[in-house]
This record gives sequence, structure tokens and C-alpha cells, in this order.
Amino acid sequence: MKAKAVFEKDFQVGKVDKRLFGSFVEHLGRCVYGGIYEPGHPTADEQGFRQDVMELVRELDVPIVRYPGGNFVSGYNWEDGIGLREHRPRRLELAWRTIETNEVGVNEFVDWTRKVGSEPMLAVNLGTRGIDAARNLLEYCNHPQGSYWSDLRRSHGYEQPHGVKVWCLGNEMDGPWQMGHKTADEYGRLAAETGKVMKMLDPSIQLVACGSSNRGMKTFPEWEATVLDHCYDYVDYISLHTYYGNPDNDTPAFLASSLDMDQFIDTVVAVCDYIKAKKRSRKTLYLSFDEWNVWFHSHQADRKLEPWQIAPPQLEDVYTHEDAIVVGTMLISLLKHCNRVKIGCQAQLVNVIAPIMTQNQGPAWRQTIFYPFQHASRFGRGTVLLPVIDSPRYDSRRFKDVPYLEAIAVENEDDYVTVFAVNRHLDQELDLTMELRGYGDLRLDSHIVLAHHDSKATNTMDNPGNVVPRHDGKTSVEQDGIHSVLAPLSWNVIRFKKANAI
Ligand code: AHR
Repeated sequence: MKAKAVFEKDFQVGKVDKRLFGSFVEHLGRCVYGGIYEPGHPTADEQGFRQDVMELVRELDVPIVRYPGGNFVSGYNWEDGIGLREHRPRRLELAWRTIETNEVGVNEFVDWTRKVGSEPMLAVNLGTRGIDAARNLLEYCNHPQGSYWSDLRRSHGYEQPHGVKVWCLGNEMDGPWQMGHKTADEYGRLAAETGKVMKMLDPSIQLVACGSSNRGMKTFPEWEATVLDHCYDYVDYISLHTYYGNPDNDTPAFLASSLDMDQFIDTVVAVCDYIKAKKRSRKTLYLSFDEWNVWFHSHQADRKLEPWQIAPPQLEDVYTHEDAIVVGTMLISLLKHCNRVKIGCQAQLVNVIAPIMTQNQGPAWRQTIFYPFQHASRFGRGTVLLPVIDSPRYDSRRFKDVPYLEAIAVENEDDYVTVFAVNRHLDQELDLTMELRGYGDLRLDSHIVLAHHDSKATNTMDNPGNVVPRHDGKTSVEQDGIHSVLAPLSWNVIRFKKANAI
């Protein structure tokens, strides 16, 4: 199989906002308790945070982390998680039917984000609560001093405000499963009024309105249009969420999932621009893809869990090699749309549908999906070039005309150009010819490959190095172009250094 990809230095999609490589920590299962936080773990620091997990989070280089939910936030009283730990209440957590101990709350989470070199993105409860709880939380976090909530924060040991910049106005409010589920008109009005009040308090913040929970919702995309009709002037982003899975073991169809993601983004952009035109607005709305991943492996196990446990093993997907390839294509989709998608949060970060797994009292390790995320986060910052791709194609059950090759190029700010490329073919190599026009001579720096003979191979506690990247990809820079051989079902990171750079 042969394919061609052409990129031109001056034909650009746009600049990547580093927050495209964000993540998500929800009070769900073992994401917080047993994930980022486990006092008594051999690596726990003075606050009870696992340093082995922190090390892996730093490897991922996650610039922003959404918190505390997710479905959890729609029943959450943020005040339960502040002040002395011994006074914090245990609550029935209704979204995931567990017991929430509130040992970790907003202050501890902000501390943790600073320790891993990240920043928090907080969600307010617009399910069971509303404007008042949201403005109080904002005052507690961001107001310097001299008011009830800011002085309470100071009395809790946080003299300086947290300065939280990005706030989500609720979570998946279109979903009937959500506590306090609303119609688009009800939510749109509430988002507008909450956003208005929050910006009265702190005009420097950025707000994310809830879009649809996924593209398959019956109310999509009318939900977005109605919600934005109400709150366009008060918000900065609209959210998108999507999860893909392979429950029927139809891998060719599963591997085409990012085509759905591309269409989802294009549709939401169109709705945003329609509302912009309708309102004669000069403001452009951006997208926050603040939940995305593969999620399906754990569905059966979760149905069998006993309710009202503390931090049970929920949503613990063990990811395969093919899942990592799908995650790679989803990252390429985000990069392709970087002119409009400014924030992305892979859901989630630890244990819960996550790149990092832990055992309580035991080790932490990297799942297969860790690697494409790490590569994109480290080498995907800069300016994305418009891809022109000529690839053989296949038909899958859901998507027809699926290109075997998915690729994007990013001009990095340090004299490198990085190409991310996926070969979707299950058993054939792809001979790729590339042109990177406008760069003069380029020197091959490295060709990293994530490939495996078994598409279902996983990384486990006992075998954490089963699916790992190698640095032996086949690429050569020749007179007539750049030639690469992409292994079957592979994720490739091909990096070039500009020849005039030292
Ligand atoms: O990430 C898991 C759950 O998926 C989140 O709580 C919810 O927002 C979504 O439905």
C-alpha cells in the first residue's frame, strides 16, 4: 500500500493552545482516592499525594486538569471539601452510587495541580445547585481578601487566591442521567445568568457552557443552538464529549472512530458560527473538548459492583494496542481542528478510563494509551499545517471511505517539525511519501513507532512493558521526498530538525 502526504509551511491550520493536552480528574472510583491521593502509600508526600503518580503525570505534561466532575459535580457541595478534614462529612454520592469521604477538596486539588506543573479547570454544580453556590466557590477561590468566602479560604491556610481561570458551567446537562437534568432553554438561561454573575465577580475568568453529552444525543445539535442563543455573550467555549468503543469486536469500524470526531467538531463549529451570525456578534466562540477517550471495556464489571463503597474500582478499562491507535487518531483530530478547539481533556487521568493505572499500596504503570498522549503533548505544540493526504481507503460498517493513513504535521517552536501518522491497516505496511514544503533541508531526528503484532495486547501491573514505543521506525530523507514505512496498525511520530538549526 502506498500513500502520500503533503504539507506546506505557509498553509497553516493555526497555533496549538497547549491546553489541548489537558486531562480530567473526577471524584469517581479510584481516580482521586487510590489514584492521585493515597496517604499511607510508600510514595505519598506530606499531603497524601502519590509521588509515583505525580511523576507519570509530569511525563504526560498535562497543562490543565478538569475537576471535580463529570456527573459527580451535579450533586456536589463544594463546601464539604474545605476546612478541617475531621469535620468533613461523608456523603452518599448519587451519580456513581458510592460514599464520598471529602478528604480531598478544592484546596488540595489546586495544590496537586501546582505540584504536577498544571492548572485547575473547575466545574460548578448546575444540577442540584445554581448561581449562589457557583459565585461563592469563585469568591472562595479567586477573590484576594476582605470578604466572607475569601477570608474563609485564608483561614484555611491559603493566603493567596488560587486564580482559577477556566470554569465549566455544569456537566452534561442535556443527559437524562444527570442530577438536575434540564431542557436546553432551562440550561441556557441558567448558564447565562450564572456566567453573568461569575464574570461580575471576576471578569478575567473564561467560561465553558455544556454542549451535548455526545453526538448521538437526540437533542444534538439543537441543544447547542438553543443554549448558545441564551448564553453566547457570557461564555467563551462550548463543551464536546465523546467516547468510542469496540464492544462487537469490529476493529476496522472502531479504527474509523475519529471520522465521527471530525464531523462532531465541524458541526459544533457550524452551530457556533450560526449563532454568531444570528446575533451579529463580533465574538468567535471556541470549543472545549473536555471529555474524550475510548471507554467500553469496564461496562460489564461496573454493572456488578455493590453500591455505597468508598472508591471502588469503577470504569477501570484495561487498554489494548488498538485502543492506543484510536486515541492517536483522536489526538490527530484535535490537532486538525486546533484553530477552534482550544481545550481538550482526556477522560480521565488515573485508574478511571485512564492512561495511568495504580494498585492500592502497589505500583503505578503506563497503559497503552499513555504513549500517543505523551507524544502529542510533548511534540504537538506549535503550528499545525494543513494536511493534504492521498491514501488508499476502506469501507467499514459505520464509515465508508476511511483512509488507511491519518496524519498531521506540527511546526514546533524549537526548530523541529513533527509528523504524527497512523496506519489503520491491520496487517499491511504503508509506504508513505511525504513532502514538507517550504522548510529547505530537513534532517531526520527520530521516528518513534508504537506497533504490536497483537492488536489486543495490553500493559498490566505484571507486564507493564508489553506495548511500548520503539525508536526504530523506517524513514529516510531523499532527493525526491521523505520516505517512511508505517508498520501495520501503528502510531508514528516522525521528527525532523531544520537543517539550518544548530
Ligand atoms: O468520564 C466519565 C463520565 O462520562 C463523566 O462523569 C460524565 O461527564 C460522562 O458521561
